Amino acid sequence: MSLTIRRLSMAAGAEISGIDLKRPLNADVVQEVKQALGTYGILLFRNADLNPAEHVAFSGQFGPLESHVVGEFNLPDHPEVFVVSNVRENGKLKGAVYAGQYWHSDLSYMKKPSLGSLLLCHEMPEIGGDTMWANMYLAYDTLSDTMKNFLGCLKAVHDYSHAYDTYFAHLKERPPLTPEQRAKTPPVEQPMIRTHPETGRKALYVNPGFTKGIVGMPKEESQPILDFLFRHSTRPEFIYRHRWDVHDMMFWDNRCTMHYALADYDFSVRRHMHRTTVAGDVPY
Ligand code: OGA
Ligand code: MN
Repeated sequence: MSLTIRRLSMAAGAEISGIDLKRPLNADVVQEVKQALGTYGILLFRNADLNPAEHVAFSGQFGPLESHVVGEFNLPDHPEVFVVSNVRENGKLKGAVYAGQYWHSDLSYMKKPSLGSLLLCHEMPEIGGDTMWANMYLAYDTLSDTMKNFLGCLKAVHDYSHAYDTYFAHLKERPPLTPEQRAKTPPVEQPMIRTHPETGRKALYVNPGFTKGIVGMPKEESQPILDFLFRHSTRPEFIYRHRWDVHDMMFWDNRCTMHYALADYDFSVRRHMHRTTVAGDVPY
């Protein structure tokens, strides 16, 4: 079987077809997929009717998997699978609700943020519930040389609790992190511009969800710079927006994209997804 790559938009994304997701891939196909991931930022696999074990097995071919720090939403039998869901069973949520409803890059708040995430759609409202991705290579490329040089010397502070202090602040279903979760996610410093280890391209590496400041600057200096960068990196030309079909699986590269889950659907309708997360390296 040969792999086919069809681009999804100018901004980002490609659909990959021609591979059997339930069987181990040849080493050269793994390499081709990895290369496409770095190039297009997001890969769509359709008809990915995978159970948790198959989802884990497929994902694990791209690197070691990690379990989410909010452990209650990891599947008990497959802790590598993080459940993103608004579905309740006996009144109890089956997964993280309101997850990712702000621009972010997964785990940018860890010293070693995730390389990529594989989100598999199990249930989706008939309308709404799309996800958007922004191409952070393009965000970097379209800055002035002066801004590129300025940001190239800077680090930003990323903190998981930032999302809880801002976006989740009014949501009772997303209470603050426990002291144990907090201890696992202290604030970290990341370069504001990072180099993709596989493509060698530079990408802007800040996001509204987790980036709360710039190292060495008071908030009144850093916030206007960050606000500009957030606005710039989410220009419509840099964005691919996906309308999910059941069994679509999106594999995105957290090193050169950020993403946003649209909260525009009827919350009484089920939206249920499984995510695996491939571990990454220290950004440089
Ligand atoms: C995630 C996430 C987006 C979505 O799983 O990392 O941000 O659309 N989800 O559910
Ligand atoms: Mn996410």
